[in-house]
Amino acid sequence: MTRVTDPKHNAKLAARLSVAPMMDWTDRHCRYLHRLLSARTLLYTEMVTAPALVRGGALHLLDFSAAEHPVALQLGGSDPEELAAAARLGQQAGYDEINLNCGCPSDRVQSGTFGAVLMKDPARVAECVAAMREAVDVEVTVKCRIGVDDQQPEEVLPEFLSRVGAAGCSRFIIHARKAWLQGLSPKENRDIPPLDYDLVMRMRGYFGGLHLSVNGGIVSLEQAERFLDAGLDGVMVGRAAYHDPAGLLAQADRRIFGAGEDSDAVAVARAMLPYIETHLASGGKLAQVTRHMLGLFAGRPGARHWRRILSEGAHRPGAGPELVEQALGAVTEQAA
Ligand SMILES: Cc1cc2nc3c(=O)[nH]c(=O)nc-3n(C[C@H](O)[C@H](O)[C@H](O)COP(=O)(O)O)c2cc1C
Repeated sequence: MTRVTDPKHNAKLAARLSVAPMMDWTDRHCRYLHRLLSARTLLYTEMVTAPALVRGGALHLLDFSAAEHPVALQLGGSDPEELAAAARLGQQAGYDEINLNCGCPSDRVQSGTFGAVLMKDPARVAECVAAMREAVDVEVTVKCRIGVDDQQPEEVLPEFLSRVGAAGCSRFIIHARKAWLQGLSPKENRDIPPLDYDLVMRMRGYFGGLHLSVNGGIVSLEQAERFLDAGLDGVMVGRAAYHDPAGLLAQADRRIFGAGEDSDAVAVARAMLPYIETHLASGGKLAQVTRHMLGLFAGRPGARHWRRILSEGAHRPGAGPELVEQALGAVTEQAA
């Protein structure tokens, strides 16, 4: 089977549902967990900056497990040549998609002229996308906002989509709110600017040829299903998938992709044990993996015990997989 026809590598097919790129959260351990919960959902890396890869040679940032496919690398940057070189490195490392971040508002990112500030410069984004497309065979996609600061989303978003689309990007993920680049923290910028899903739906109407995913404030599979039924091509979920991974992902293969069995959080926790052993054997720490597992039983009996046992014990010297077994014991006891 070639890579393109193999569903494990078909990012576009998987993009009906995706877990958002989240710095410090969607690292490889988190993605491994999410992949056990859903075989089909598209997973994104944390943002990796093109300068870190190309100038800094930080190729370890690209490491991931073959089990994570389909998996997309998100890049940050605004220099076409550098992004092209970074995209090439991403493709060589085996990523199934290269995504350009045009939505992240943090100061550090603004100072390097990338992230959401690029919403003001669609011509540059188009140049970046064209250079990246030229450099790689895997799909190049863009994650954007609906605008920034005092921009009029109704005007700038269609212009952005049409210019960047003309440069060769046919798949966009739209975080359906503005970023306010002055005065709000990155966290506030994920909550305070109001969501405008209707605008994203109007883009659906204008740009029939583009694959459009909506992002922002989606907290359940029901909500995701409604957007897909309304004609969007994909739904990207961030915080809710992190805090309640089983709630979002355990039924995703069946309900969103129409194929596959539901997964079970207890079985998934057990399936993490060999992964944890390998991680510890290579010098890693238990908490680096278990911190992403704290929400695995969110809303279920025993969730509090599970979270407490793992968060109190995982940092202790010598902590290992038996702590996860102990926490699981508390969950299954409560459920009985
Ligand atoms: C901790 C954290 C880190 C994030 N890091 C990134 C990032 O690296 N790149 C990016 O495009 N968006 C980043 N985001 C934004 C998310 O991808 C997403 O757009 C946002 O959280 C809205 O979706 P949600 O309401 O489903 O969480 C981050 C969000 C969080 C909570």
